[in-house]
Amino acid sequence: MKEVKIGIILNGVTGRMGTNQHLMRSIVPIIRQGGVKCADGRVIIPDPILVGRDEEKLKKLAALSGIFRMTTHLERALNERDNLIYFDAQTTGKRVEDVRKAIAAGKHIYCEKPVAASAVDALELYRLCREAGLKNGVVQDKLWLPGMIKLKRLIQQGFFGEIVSVRGEFGYWVFEGDTIPAQRPSWNYRKEEEGGIILDMLCHWRYVLDNLFGKVKAVSCLGATHIKRRIDEKGIPYNCTADDAAYATFELEGGIIAHFNSSWVVRVRRDDLLTLQVDGTKGSAVAGLRECYTQSYGNTPRPVWNPDVPQPINFFDGWLKVPEQEEYDNAFKAEWELFLKHVVNDEPFPWTLLEGAKGVQLAEKGMESWAKRAWVEIPEIIYT
Ligand SMILES: NC(=O)c1ccc[n+]([C@@H]2O[C@H](COP(=O)([O-])OP(=O)(O)OC[C@H]3O[C@@H](n4cnc5c(N)ncnc54)[C@H](O)[C@@H]3O)[C@@H](O)[C@H]2O)c1
Repeated sequence: MKEVKIGIILNGVTGRMGTNQHLMRSIVPIIRQGGVKCADGRVIIPDPILVGRDEEKLKKLAALSGIFRMTTHLERALNERDNLIYFDAQTTGKRVEDVRKAIAAGKHIYCEKPVAASAVDALELYRLCREAGLKNGVVQDKLWLPGMIKLKRLIQQGFFGEIVSVRGEFGYWVFEGDTIPAQRPSWNYRKEEEGGIILDMLCHWRYVLDNLFGKVKAVSCLGATHIKRRIDEKGIPYNCTADDAAYATFELEGGIIAHFNSSWVVRVRRDDLLTLQVDGTKGSAVAGLRECYTQSYGNTPRPVWNPDVPQPINFFDGWLKVPEQEEYDNAFKAEWELFLKHVVNDEPFPWTLLEGAKGVQLAEKGMESWAKRAWVEIPEIIYT
């Protein structure tokens, strides 16, 4: 069995996503499991280098992960020939500049979403990669969540009949930071630092809708900044300049109507932090991050409106849990493995920066819709 060692630059690895999802739950487990096996039998062994601005944080992360290659100078990592992949999980606003540097240094590119703050910039990065003959990809983790995989299987099996609508509920209460510490970084609430829930979440909804239900054709979106002041990481109050909730409706190819509420100002009384309800002529399903519940036509209750008596039907009783029919890995790790096999063995990887640019496009169009208080069409991005 031939082992292929591949240097991976992990920039922004000290952040929330970089540390938890990409380093500790993807790259480290891949190393510990002995690498990723390609279709041709070769085994890819990641050789990461941690890149960040703060040496102390990098050292702590090295102790935690057992990965001791590190630098505070991105250029040094880029200059090393064996570092073939550049990965970026920095704050969104920092991404374009450093991805450009990595492309100029001839590295294959993999990065977090949103790829950029504008579709023009995101598409430019894709074009640069294509012209330089570099492999490229964007994180589209929700596609590998067990709940979403279960939904996909139901669609493939024709469970729903004709799908008519998709309702997404995403969100939870993000504390303001005065009494209870905030669970998200403060830049998320500052427009000038590419924060905002529309840019953050519509990127996700684009690939979920495009891949599972049909291409997004038009959007109507209303954003809001419900909480005006929060407390930052240093305990200093700041004004929130970015949207913290988005109420968006999408028209899909084939006539499906999707509506997603995304909010950091909502309390959860549903199965999970993200739930997707899919209604079809033959059946419905509600998926969370891991679980999925179905109700077929034959099990559909027949409610009659009468507020004068207590509700006789327990609606939750009419749903069946989809069993675990497959093994599910961490969603980020699953995509990392596919990207590594794409780079080393040219195995298929359709989740390119072009797909990332489509996500940014939907977010931009959502913001345009909000500003104009109007429906906005989503033109197909054609790359030639
Ligand atoms: N795929 C997903 O589900 C998902 C979820 C959350 C966030 N994200 C994306 O991941 C990226 C990182 O988000 P996060 O929540 O980990 O953020 P974070 O603030 O926790 O981490 C940001 C990282 O960027 C680095 N950085 C570089 N320059 C910086 C600067 N000038 N100011 C602040 N940080 C700077 C930080 O050192 C840190 O490593 C964002 O683009 C975000 O949109 C993706």
